[in-house]
Amino acid sequence: MERIIEVEKIAFDGAEDASLRPSAWEDYIGQSAIKNKLRVFIDAARKRAEPIDHLLFFGPPGLGKTTLAYLIAREMGANIKTTAGPMIEKSGDLAAILTNLNEGDILFIDEIHRMSHTIEEVLYPAMEDFRLDIIIGSGPAAQTVKIDLPRFTLIGATTRAGMIGNPLRDRFGAHFRMQFYDVADLAAIAKRAANKLGKPIEDAAAEEIARRSRGTPRIALRLLRRVRDYAEVEGETTIGFERAKSALDALGVNENGFDELDLRLLALLVEARGRAIGLSALGAKLSEDGATIEEVIEPYLLANGYLERTARGRIATIKSYEALKLSAPAAPNQGALFNDRS
Ligand code: ADE
Repeated sequence: MERIIEVEKIAFDGAEDASLRPSAWEDYIGQSAIKNKLRVFIDAARKRAEPIDHLLFFGPPGLGKTTLAYLIAREMGANIKTTAGPMIEKSGDLAAILTNLNEGDILFIDEIHRMSHTIEEVLYPAMEDFRLDIIIGSGPAAQTVKIDLPRFTLIGATTRAGMIGNPLRDRFGAHFRMQFYDVADLAAIAKRAANKLGKPIEDAAAEEIARRSRGTPRIALRLLRRVRDYAEVEGETTIGFERAKSALDALGVNENGFDELDLRLLALLVEARGRAIGLSALGAKLSEDGATIEEVIEPYLLANGYLERTARGRIATIKSYEALKLSAPAAPNQGALFNDRS
């Protein structure tokens, strides 16, 4: 099903997405705790005239991991080369990327959790000692050839913190968990982007888009473009509150930013009357694969208390009922609606 608020595929929305990306450190809104730490690391590395240490970013898609990597490169005055875990099929692919780096370059690997274990092992000496160990031949005649690499910085990004093994995780100098954005920050991002698109937006309209963007800048920018279409068709030079509201309603994005898929998921949980539903059962009922549910749909619902994960599966909360405009059954506790006695 096509989702207007889908995040994963929006990455391929093309040049427009990149053109709305902030090109200066000061223009990056939100994630202030991460930005403050990075500022120190960048300034210290620059003072020492060394590349910055390897960095790992965790978090749901669309929260600005790639954007931050580009801004770090800019602040370091470094070149950045980007690739993604699934694109690196053989150890040789990674060896070619690494040997083509120059001193101080940044290598950005998106979805780094999707590299195979054999390929991951090529990274260990490269990250630790800036060395590539190539094994030539096999059996007793096998030889290891060591190739020195320039000092580079690896920036890894992943939506699955749990899928990065310790050996890889430990080789990064710092880890950052990206947070969902609040409405004020998302509104500021939408406003800035609207001006860039040459279609100014009223504050209240930017806030309405922000409220329905599931804490995610990429969704806010996506919704902004679609709302702009509606304003354009009506011949309006600025985007007003009523236009934003009616366009978002027409797009099927409700006041919480939930679309039909979110609502179907919440409905399943609520219908279970307090019983937990496992990920694979949810996937089967929604015709979606488990990874999409876990990485794209659930993080925002979880972070905002719309569902709880337990060892037995997912459970409705009071907010799940509220989101569906249903009244919750009597005597719910604070978190999950029912405890284990059933
Ligand atoms: N566009 C997308 N993400 C952004 C952010 N965090 N700050 C400013 N503009 C953005």
